[in-house]
Amino acid sequence: MLLDKHGKIERNVVLMSILILITISIGGLVEIIPLYLVKSTIEPVEGVRPYSPLELRGRDIYIREGCYVCHSQQIRPFRDEVERYGHYSLAAESMYDHPFQWGSKRTGPDLARVGGKYSNDWQVAHMIDPRGVVPESIMPGYPFLAERALQTDDLVARIEANIAVGVPYDDAMVANAMADLLAQSDPDADHDGLLARYPKAVVGDLDGEPGRLTEMDALVAYLQILGRMVDFADMAVEDLEAQ
Ligand code: HEC
Repeated sequence: MLLDKHGKIERNVVLMSILILITISIGGLVEIIPLYLVKSTIEPVEGVRPYSPLELRGRDIYIREGCYVCHSQQIRPFRDEVERYGHYSLAAESMYDHPFQWGSKRTGPDLARVGGKYSNDWQVAHMIDPRGVVPESIMPGYPFLAERALQTDDLVARIEANIAVGVPYDDAMVANAMADLLAQSDPDADHDGLLARYPKAVVGDLDGEPGRLTEMDALVAYLQILGRMVDFADMAVEDLEAQ
């Protein structure tokens, strides 16, 4: 009988160890091998695109200034979070973020969907003097961002670094990087090419001084795209559940 044979295994430590090892290995391989065979474990979601050159520079400034120390960018799928911040974050929404900015602490609110919540003017006024617009704020001011010229010499190198880690910037995006960066913060520029490459990018007067390209321009461009790439209003509930 089968049970007798099992008795044999139970009395033989070496045999039992070998059989346990084989059993666990099969379980492990069944889980691990498929992950090596798929190209990506992230479901693609319509609308998610690489950051425009100006947004990318804004993101660099966000990281440089340590905004992630006080702000998260991940809305968890809990009712209190969804009611406060909007639709919970999808994995695809941060697939081109290297490194991701999920953060681990919320001294200030989550910023995953802050894009479009306020005007550019509000963002600039708040960054220069947070207590000027939110009297009880404990956020530090960053007035110098409005003074500092945005450094762009290594723009293409920054984009190429993103390409190296898998962000799909194409040749036209690289070739037009500098032109796109300048066009995004210039209200009088032709924005068609930029918007075709980077749909929904906020263009025009970003920091209140159209003539000058500052770090504030870049930061506002970045903040204003956060959470806006995916159009949740257009998505059927089943689509979201599938994700
Ligand atoms: C010491 C913690 C701290 C740091 C660092 C910090 N913030 Fe904040 N931030 C806050 C707090 C607190 C609030 C809520 C009060 C307010 O609106 O000022 C806030 C609010 C905000 C808001 C408005 C969010 C909303 O939904 O109303 C934005 C946008 C923002 N911060 C951006 C930034 C950026 C960009 C940086 C980095 C340059 C930054 N913060 C750095 C604490 C911080």
